[in-house]
Amino acid sequence: METIEFEFTKDGPILVKKDGKMEFALCRCGHSTKKPFCSGAHVSAGFKADASRLELK
Ligand code: FES
Repeated sequence: METIEFEFTKDGPILVKKDGKMEFALCRCGHSTKKPFCSGAHVSAGFKADASRLELK
């Protein structure tokens, strides 16, 4: 059985991991230049958000 994890990083993107291996990073700030993926624009945008985690098994 595989595990999918969504890691909501502090002030940053959602890291999507499969069986502990990073697959991609999704933008959650709305400022990415390569949506739906994170482009790093959250830094200059001053995006602020709490960290959390969701794991699906
Ligand atoms: S979270 Fe990184 S560009 Fe939006």
